[in-house]
Amino acid sequence: MQDLQPTHRPVISATGLFTPAESITNEELVASFNSFVERHNQRHAEAIEAGEVEALHPSSVEFIEKASGIKARHVMSKEPILDPEIMAPRWDERPDDQLSIMAEIGVIAARQALERAGRKPEDVDAVLCAASNMQRAYPAMAIEIQEALGIEGFGFDMNVACSSATFGIQTAADYVRAGNAKSVLVVSPEITSGHLNWRDRDSHFIFGDVATAVLVEDEAIAPKEHWEILGTKLKTVFSNNIRNNFGFLNRAHPESAGAADKLFVQEGRKVFKEVVPMVAQMIVDEASKLQIDPANIRRLWLHQANAGMNRLIAQRVLGHEADEDESPTVLDTYGNTSSAGSIIAFHQHSDDLEPGDTGLICSFGAGYSAGTVFVRKVA
Ligand code: COA
Repeated sequence: MQDLQPTHRPVISATGLFTPAESITNEELVASFNSFVERHNQRHAEAIEAGEVEALHPSSVEFIEKASGIKARHVMSKEPILDPEIMAPRWDERPDDQLSIMAEIGVIAARQALERAGRKPEDVDAVLCAASNMQRAYPAMAIEIQEALGIEGFGFDMNVACSSATFGIQTAADYVRAGNAKSVLVVSPEITSGHLNWRDRDSHFIFGDVATAVLVEDEAIAPKEHWEILGTKLKTVFSNNIRNNFGFLNRAHPESAGAADKLFVQEGRKVFKEVVPMVAQMIVDEASKLQIDPANIRRLWLHQANAGMNRLIAQRVLGHEADEDESPTVLDTYGNTSSAGSIIAFHQHSDDLEPGDTGLICSFGAGYSAGTVFVRKVA
């Protein structure tokens, strides 16, 4: 009997990127941090002497670059972050009838993706706001973005920390496969500066702000040049090694004393050790299921958390040390931008691939969570 069900193949039609104008170099960051340390140690000199308060230690540009590969990060609010008396981003609270800040940057990235695909907002069916933190509980950021863009249909928020964007891509691809949508925007506004503890020496250098957008569509309506989604795989394994306890049941403001756990905290070494083998194995297994020889993956657009992690993962997958062409880095200038990192890498380093080339977008982070999206260029 003939199968009457039409086949819907999901593809990536285009991506968009918003980069904040302001950027903080390691030198600027460390100067501010060390000034905070000096002031703290002076203010508490007697208590430190008496052993009641611990002296803080300075940060260093050399350590940051060597341990992480990060040289700078873009932020939405530079001055207060660098002010040793504040060390956090600051925004005026906006009235309810003004576009909120996460929606604002998400909309810019989304508009770029739509423009690049030649798509009108009215032809989009759904908006997923996939990010590692939302600035409010409700209404969903996605619905505000949907309204601002003039999209009918529906929108909702989803948070899978650093893997939010790849989980969003699979969700969008599943809507397309099922015939429930033909065009879905996955928007990831990541204002990570708001959940980073800029006073914590172990992690103050890690994050940066950005917004990305991915337009997932049915091949039937996609522009001539697009990326076929060959397969997606998601994985979560519970771990406390990356955690943020801020939430509506917690009264402590994240910046108040003793509330460091209401911001990002991690056991960086453990994350490194546990996540690298998990992700490398996941990529190899998934490639095998899709009958792709990992050595033939033309480019890896990996999550951008740590240069060392990416070096090891790429080596295990490709079987040799990857160069910048095979595994491009964006974390040197963007820092860790949570779920947006692998999407920035894809956005900035995919135009030069040839039709038929196979690549992999891969995320990993808190949860633990990891996602793979194997794609092939069509033009
Ligand atoms: N400046 C100078 N020295 C510092 C420092 C800083 N800012 N921060 C830590 N150090 C020191 C430590 O005190 C320690 O000194 P010791 O050996 O005398 O005890 C030493 O540097 C090593 O510290 P450690 O925390 O073990 O560093 P690391 O090499 O593990 O690097 C990370 C830290 C965070 C960069 C690294 O662990 C990492 O990137 N892990 C994965 C993170 C990740 O992917 N997270 C996901 C987030 S989504």
